Amino acid sequence: MQAAVITLFPDYFRGPFECGPTRVARADGKLALSFVNPRDFTSDAHRTVDDYPFGGGAGMVMKPEPLSAAIESVRRPTSLVVLLTPQGERFTQPLAEELSHADHLVLVCGRYKGVDERVRTLVDREVSVGDYVLAGGEAAAVVVIEAVARLLPGAVGDEDSVATDSFSAGILDAPYYTRPREFRGLEVPEVLVSGDHASVARWRREQALKTTARRRPELLRNEVLSESEREFLCRELEKETING
Ligand SMILES: C[S@@+](CC[C@H](N)C(=O)[O-])C[C@H]1O[C@@H](n2cnc3c(N)ncnc32)[C@H](O)[C@@H]1O
Repeated sequence: MQAAVITLFPDYFRGPFECGPTRVARADGKLALSFVNPRDFTSDAHRTVDDYPFGGGAGMVMKPEPLSAAIESVRRPTSLVVLLTPQGERFTQPLAEELSHADHLVLVCGRYKGVDERVRTLVDREVSVGDYVLAGGEAAAVVVIEAVARLLPGAVGDEDSVATDSFSAGILDAPYYTRPREFRGLEVPEVLVSGDHASVARWRREQALKTTARRRPELLRNEVLSESEREFLCRELEKETING
């Protein structure tokens, strides 16, 4: 996959992509990243990229000419151009999976009060990383690229690990433990050291269901549960109600 980030702050990206699965995906040639600065598409001496909003009010707005020229300098027929904005569709694991199949992703980072409304005509999608407002789209671009990069084949050593992560399987993930077996009086659940793989798999599935029921019950709406899983959840939730 190739990804181009349109940003006024290319230096922002020094570091985040130098470690973990994103670094691996880049080193393996699975992900090629480039950064394009709209300032390089200005024609005035001050290299102006922002201006006052028509109608007045606080803050500056990113001018449409440098931004559109930057987008068009990298856009090709197979590009998927994504504007990062708090007003976009929520970034989720299914959306990360969808974007991971893009041939060429172009991520447009806004700054200030945002981008001139007319730039929206150049983008295919608008994406938000959550219901809060960042100072710029750069942090959102890091989130999107990291979530997408770890889905590229080979980026994460064990692909089963990605498949069982929260949201990938539709529900939240199970709890994990490592050595030592006892830490500050807290023991690792016996089943995990039993060597019985079927029991471990069942325990993980049940724990994942329990955590999801507690923290994100809406995720269970589309989950197909076996009769025994249904009974397990009812028992657990009943226990919690009784114990307060
Ligand atoms: C200060 S914000 C502008 C917010 C805009 N005035 C609004 O309220 O919708 C500047 C830039 O940060 C980026 N940004 C801020 N929050 C974001 C979010 N939750 N998801 C994606 N991008 C975000 C966008 O690119 C935006 O243009």
